[in-house]
Amino acid sequence: MDVPGYALVTGAASGIGRACANTFARDGAAGVALFDVCLEALHMDKTEIEQKQYTPQGKPCRVVIHQVDVSKEEQVTQAVKAVVEEYGRLDYVANAAGIAMKHAGGAAFAALNDWQRVLDVNLTGSLLVLKAAAQVMLKQEPIHSSIDGRPLQRGTIVLFGSIQSVAGIPLSTAYAASKAGVLGLTRSASEDYAKDGLRINAICPGYTETPLTTMNPGVFKAMEERVLVAVPMMRVGKPQEIADGVVYLAGGRSSFVTGTALMVDGGYTER
Ligand SMILES: NC(=O)c1ccc[n+]([C@@H]2O[C@H](COP(=O)([O-])OP(=O)(O)OC[C@H]3O[C@@H](n4cnc5c(N)ncnc54)[C@H](O)[C@@H]3O)[C@@H](O)[C@H]2O)c1
Repeated sequence: MDVPGYALVTGAASGIGRACANTFARDGAAGVALFDVCLEALHMDKTEIEQKQYTPQGKPCRVVIHQVDVSKEEQVTQAVKAVVEEYGRLDYVANAAGIAMKHAGGAAFAALNDWQRVLDVNLTGSLLVLKAAAQVMLKQEPIHSSIDGRPLQRGTIVLFGSIQSVAGIPLSTAYAASKAGVLGLTRSASEDYAKDGLRINAICPGYTETPLTTMNPGVFKAMEERVLVAVPMMRVGKPQEIADGVVYLAGGRSSFVTGTALMVDGGYTER
């Protein structure tokens, strides 16, 4: 996917974020920084990637881990600073950290603290990670393609929307609002920096099999039934299928793509 530089993945301890971390490493990133609130799982990711993944030059992928809550500005800023001290630059960000919640009774009964927590992590977290990364990227020289040597970009940021960025799903008030907000943030920020060689895009996964969706077996069963009628491909997605879209948006093969939302949803949103 043409990702010769250094990547940062948030939400890297699970599901789609973990798949993104492995894919950056597998596709030739020189290093991958992993952020999550769950430090123990990040240690396991680091060991797995270091044992399996080598750069095209035969060196092990350099993995650093940081326990970070993306909704806390000081933690994000400090951890991004530490990553740049370690690697010397930062080329790709995939902000997969996210939480989901249903509100019993719907929007009319949504508790304000639930609403706030979802917006803090999914939307404010996206802004905080974007801010810290973009300030580094805008100051660095463009990276060159590992395929044909052309100057690619100063940096790329992939934010996480959802099919709920554009479609309503019952009882999902805060989550849908947060994910619609991520698209607005993506479009506006991409305009700010397109001329400077900083590309900002969103990935919008459809129903995907991760701990977010499988931890409650009843919810996952309902999801499997729903996809049979709502998703043209009639199945849930795999984390690797989302990660492939993320690494495409981050790497050189998408060098003329900015401000877009890539739907990776088995056709759900074309209906
Ligand atoms: N799984 C799906 O069906 C689906 C669909 C559409 C969008 N998404 C989005 O994809 C992203 C990844 O979801 P997933 O399915 O892999 O979920 P997941 O629950 O498997 O992983 C999310 C990770 O984010 C971490 N996290 C949560 N809050 C955090 C915080 N404040 N700071 C740092 N890390 C935090 C968790 O510890 C976890 O490791 C999310 O943004 C989610 O909204 C998922």
